[in-house]
Order: sequence, then structure tokens, then C-alpha cells
Amino acid sequence: MRVSILAAALAAALAFPLALPAAAQDARRGQALAADICAACHGPEGRSQMPGVPSLAGQPAEFVTMQMILFREGLRAVPVMQQVAQGRSDQEIEDLAAWFASLPPGPPDDRPARNAELLARGQAVAARSNCGVCHLPNFAGRNQIPRLAGQREDFLAQTMAEYRDNRRSGSDTQMNAVMYGMPDADIAALAHFLSQQD
Ligand code: HEC
Ligand code: HEC
Repeated sequence: MRVSILAAALAAALAFPLALPAAAQDARRGQALAADICAACHGPEGRSQMPGVPSLAGQPAEFVTMQMILFREGLRAVPVMQQVAQGRSDQEIEDLAAWFASLPPGPPDDRPARNAELLARGQAVAARSNCGVCHLPNFAGRNQIPRLAGQREDFLAQTMAEYRDNRRSGSDTQMNAVMYGMPDADIAALAHFLSQQD
């Protein structure tokens, strides 16, 4: 049941280019919407200064589109984002995604200071878990796979624990498998390492 709903969401996302032959994504329309609705939490430049709220600047458009669909369809259960995504058209979602993808990524102003020990541990865990194979070696993400470099450390730690504990399910179960059994200390180290990448 759940699988078929996810499959439908995926199919819907993949069908966008076909469903929208003429009206391409319009980052400027996305910019206006983002200023009205998203900037308050995700930051005016898409760099979040709010704990627990991820930065969106430089995220692959496909990733933002997919997550907005998951929120809209109630498949990623975060009340605040479900409310924001509710009733948004596919076109609005595509425009928003194009806008955030166009923004230069960067760390939040309140990024914690670098901790060499934690960084080295996180780097080692990332290497042996092959994070870079999917998220790219510089962790910039691609397609439906998110950028992790420079993301808020608190958000990274929180969301990885959610995958591990099956409290976050994505468009597929790849991340639940990757995080399965991951100790808290390794999650903390990964979050630190990734948030320190530029
Ligand atoms: C009231 C605050 C708030 C507003 C307004 C808001 N968001 Fe969010 N958003 C959040 C929070 C909190 C999360 C993290 C959810 C979680 O815990 O996983 C989030 C997550 C997301 C994610 C997932 C990103 C990721 O890296 O996993 C996307 C995409 C997103 N928001 C897009 C938007 C867009 C587009 C808008 C405007 C149309 C918007 N948000 C408005 C609070 C907000
Ligand atoms: C097999 C490919 C694959 C591997 C390996 C992988 N990831 Fe992912 N990752 C994904 C996909 C796909 C998503 C988006 C899933 C979704 O829709 O929730 C994702 C999402 C994430 C997110 C959510 C970010 C956000 O902004 O919402 C984090 C954090 C993350 N991965 C960290 C890692 C780390 C750390 C590793 C290594 C320990 C890793 N990933 C390994 C494919 C992978």
C-alpha cells in the first residue's frame, strides 16, 4: 500500500517534463513565492539561520520538487511543511525548486566551530559508508539526491536519526538502509563533517 503510494508520487514527479511541455520552470516566479512564504524560515538567500530548518540554496531542483511532493501528499510527515505544501500546484513547486537550485549554497552564519577530532571521525564514517557514491564526492548532491555540504549540522543530525529510526521515509528506502544501526556518535560526527564542507 505504502509502496504503491510512493511509486505514484515518483511517477508523478517523473511525468512533470511531459505534463509541462510549454511552461518551463520559472525561477523568477519561484523567487516571488519564496520571498512571500519560504524566506521566513529558510532564510532570504535560502540559507537557514533557524535550528532544525534546512538550507535550500543550491539543492538540486529535482530533490526540492520530490520533497515538496512528499510533503504535499503527506508521505513526509512534518506538519509545518505539509501545511506549506498543501494545495501547491506542480508548476509552483517546479518554480520554487528552480529558484532554490539557482542560489549559491553556503553555510549558515551560526555554523559551529570546526572540531578536528569530530571531523576526522565523520570523514572516516562517510568514506566507509560510501556516502559520496550517491551524494557525489564533494557532497553537492544530484537529481533527487540532496546536497549535504554546508547544510546545518543540527538538521543533518536530526534527519539522519529519523532515517535510522524509520521516522523519515523518502521516495525510496535507500537512506533507511544506509543509516540502519548507525550509532549516535557516528551520526554526530557525520553531521559535523558534512556541515563543514563548502
Ligand atoms: C514555518 C517555517 C517554514 C516555512 C514557512 C517553510 N518551511 Fe520548508 N521546512 C521547514 C522545516 C522545519 C523543515 C524541516 C522538516 C524536517 O524536520 O524534516 C523544512 C523542510 C523543507 C524541505 C526539505 C529540505 C530537506 O533538505 O530535507 C523543503 C524542500 C522545503 N522545506 C521547502 C520549503 C518551501 C519551498 C517553502 C515555501 C513555499 C517552505 N519550505 C516554507 C520549515 C518551513
Ligand atoms: C544509495 C545511495 C545513497 C547513499 C549510499 C547515501 N545516501 Fe543519503 N540520500 C540518498 C537519497 C536518495 C536521499 C533522498 C531520500 C529521500 O527522499 O528522503 C538521501 C538523503 C540524505 C539526507 C537528507 C538530507 C536532506 O537535506 O533532507 C542525508 C542527511 C543523507 N542522505 C546523508 C547520507 C550520509 C551521511 C550517507 C553515508 C553515511 C548517505 N547519505 C549515503 C541516497 C544515498
